[in-house]
Amino acid sequence: MIADRDFFVKELAEGDFADDIFADGQDLYLEIGSGKGEFISRYPISHPSWNFIGMEMSEKRIRVCLKKLSVEQNPNVRLIRKKADAGIAQLFRPESLSGVFIQHPDPWPKRRHHRRRLIQQDFLTALAGIMKPEARVQISTDHTDYAAWIVAEFAQNPHFLCLQDNTIQGHGNLDEHVVTWFEEEQRRQGYPPNFMLYKRI
Ligand SMILES: C[S@@+](CC[C@H](N)C(=O)[O-])C[C@H]1O[C@@H](n2cnc3c(N)ncnc32)[C@H](O)[C@@H]1O
Repeated sequence: MIADRDFFVKELAEGDFADDIFADGQDLYLEIGSGKGEFISRYPISHPSWNFIGMEMSEKRIRVCLKKLSVEQNPNVRLIRKKADAGIAQLFRPESLSGVFIQHPDPWPKRRHHRRRLIQQDFLTALAGIMKPEARVQISTDHTDYAAWIVAEFAQNPHFLCLQDNTIQGHGNLDEHVVTWFEEEQRRQGYPPNFMLYKRI
């Protein structure tokens, strides 16, 4: 059964802020690239006093997410069909996010496509601006080259502090991890994820 699309999928007009979607003042968390919806349908259930927005650029994937959501189980979840990039600062008010989750962002493995990678300086600076101080970004990727790239980009950005010791392999301080479809697939093929955790300074 497909969940009530009108309830879950919010269209943002020019100038609208996504943080206005919930008007109850609860902490707001963002997942970028919700894919087939494992995280956005499961994690919020154990955090009923927080709100969650799943930002997914693909209409097809939004439809798959809807199959996993129900108004009864996921009243604190909404989806927006948007591509995350440095323009994210126009979609959320400054310091409106209490945390961000990004699982398996597209790695764009070819060198000439690296500029399409989500994690890069202009995006990180824009993201920092819409996050509350102390808010965390949790990221995972099975792609070792992209993992190293992500570590280097965060290290270069003055707005974030790395909370993972000296390894990106461990699962360390990631709480209540939800294994997504993509993680399961990649693990099966011998590519376990690298986990990264950062704090907005
Ligand atoms: C490799 S899949 C991973 C999906 C899911 N997070 C998982 O772990 O199974 C990447 C997902 O992110 C979406 N995506 C890629 N770039 C994006 C962007 N810049 N903004 C929003 N969604 C994006 C894709 O459409 C796809 O659903």
